Amino acid sequence: MNQGKKCEPWQRTCCASELSLASVGEEVVLNGWVQRRRDHGGLIFIDLRDRSGIVQVVFSPEGCREAFNTAEQVRSEYVLAVQGRVEKRPEGTTNPRLKTGEIEVIAQAVWVLNHAKTPPFSIEEGVDVDEMVRLRYRYLDLRRPELRRNLMLRHRAGKVVRDFLDEHGFLEIETPMLTRSTPEGARDFLVPSRLNPGKFYALPQSPQLFKQLLMVAGMERYFQIVRCFRDEDLRADRQPEFTQIDIEMSFITPEDIQALMEKMITRVFRETVGRELKLPFARLSYQEAMERYGSDKPDLRFGLPLLDAASAFVATEVKVFKNVLEKGGRIKGLNAKGCASFTRREIDELTGLVTGLGAKGLAWIAFEADGTIRSPLAKVLSGTELTQLKDIFGVEPGDLILLVAADFHTVCLSLGQLRLFLGRKLGLIDPAALSFVWITDFPLFEWSEEERRYVAMHHPFTSPAEEDIPLLESNPGQVRAKAYDLVLNGVELGGGSIRIHSRHVQEKMFKALGLTPEASQAKFGYLLEAFEYGTPPHGGIAFGFDRLIMLLAGEQSIRDVIAFPKTASGTCLLTGAPAEVDARQLAELHVRSTV
Ligand code: AMO
Repeated sequence: MNQGKKCEPWQRTCCASELSLASVGEEVVLNGWVQRRRDHGGLIFIDLRDRSGIVQVVFSPEGCREAFNTAEQVRSEYVLAVQGRVEKRPEGTTNPRLKTGEIEVIAQAVWVLNHAKTPPFSIEEGVDVDEMVRLRYRYLDLRRPELRRNLMLRHRAGKVVRDFLDEHGFLEIETPMLTRSTPEGARDFLVPSRLNPGKFYALPQSPQLFKQLLMVAGMERYFQIVRCFRDEDLRADRQPEFTQIDIEMSFITPEDIQALMEKMITRVFRETVGRELKLPFARLSYQEAMERYGSDKPDLRFGLPLLDAASAFVATEVKVFKNVLEKGGRIKGLNAKGCASFTRREIDELTGLVTGLGAKGLAWIAFEADGTIRSPLAKVLSGTELTQLKDIFGVEPGDLILLVAADFHTVCLSLGQLRLFLGRKLGLIDPAALSFVWITDFPLFEWSEEERRYVAMHHPFTSPAEEDIPLLESNPGQVRAKAYDLVLNGVELGGGSIRIHSRHVQEKMFKALGLTPEASQAKFGYLLEAFEYGTPPHGGIAFGFDRLIMLLAGEQSIRDVIAFPKTASGTCLLTGAPAEVDARQLAELHVRSTV
């Protein structure tokens, strides 16, 4: 690590993990932390840890009395420098779990570079510590090998992405952090302007408009590994500040972007975790994904598809089904293979899940192995209906059919979650599998009940399919977007689109979103104006970098791949942010707190 020249006697000559049988006989100086000290009467063993790994150091009174005496005083997490000779471990004392397990360093001198209080948790791989404590002492948590590995992986993945994009002619260009709000569907974080009383910057939810303006500027291929800020409800895969691999290109088609991104992702997997991916990735239209998996980010590591059951109930006497079909709703379901033996309690749990998501109930039919049928609907279902159901779901003895009747949205939401729940419960998911899928042909808009208007499904700069442009005014719900998402194992890894590049179409889009011409002009006048100066057709994509690393590392939460993440309530337990500021600061910013 230091470039060969030793400046102080205690400065390292090598790192722990560099030592192996080949180093036997070498005189070395190591720097690191005390992982563990074991006192074996006449001998003291210290596992010395540095960023690269751990090596065992042996202190004996015969080797060096002074070093031995010092070693007796050290505690976990003390910072040491050790000078010594590398030796092969005696027969029978090797440690196959340690990379350096065949050797040890016989100490000749030791320097205590710093003391340490007893840490609030043990700094070891896999220890089960409350996350709140880990976040409070994040600098200690980061000493643990798994988190260190995650940060190294993150670094490596970033480097692979940069190299790949550089080789493909992309320029890394920074865009402002203090900017105007760009709507990406979340609330903005606002920054008051001291110099402009009453005015606020917004932290970018993404650099969407700047990257488009860079295309107007003729940059042709842009990328940035960039921090984005969104004030939204947090989850395991959502942070208020997160990182995107943000990409934009001119003169391209969705297929060009997808093919290039497949190559990039393949390279990342190959060069970070040594896994080969099968190309091209699968593709599903939004409609197919919703129909079959009840989700626009389907986990395709397992089957258990949702099937349409309405055809079995065209002449039904089952009231709920009849009512739903009359109202234009849908009846869909899935076949939980071999689950006819589920207990009432287990079925109640499934019912609770779907009713919690808006379904009125869960209809179930257990086809027992002996040919009998167990179901609350047993008395009302006709023989024809049962035969048709068997046909639709390919029922075999022992299967359990689960049905939801409701509007399409509720059917998808509830059965989509039920599918995931069952996939996990029945052990259908291979945790090592990698299942990539592009979701294409999204609708341009979705109806927001809350706002009583159409909102953009991706963002307002997404291009409609050419042939659907006339529908922007007459039937917005039917307009398809030139948008695509990349999904991996049920996680939305990235999303992008071809953009609108004409002022005229952009204005129509704003109108469909309920913006008056005045409001569009006030908010996005600069973009509309730019479109009048020779804007190339362009499009792009952004990947959630934290999510990508989470999946590469096999972690369940993006907090485990971010050095200093926030809690689910958006706080930083280490620094105490967000925090009050003093009255003078507020006054300078022309801001008054109402709390
Ligand atoms: P989108 O909003 O889909 O698209 O974001 C792109 C990707 O960013 C990740 N992501 C997040 N990761 C962690 N925490 C969050 N709060 C969070 N929000 C989003 C997801 C998501 O797929 N400007 C467009 C991209 C484009 O059109 O080019 C955009 O930001 O993995």
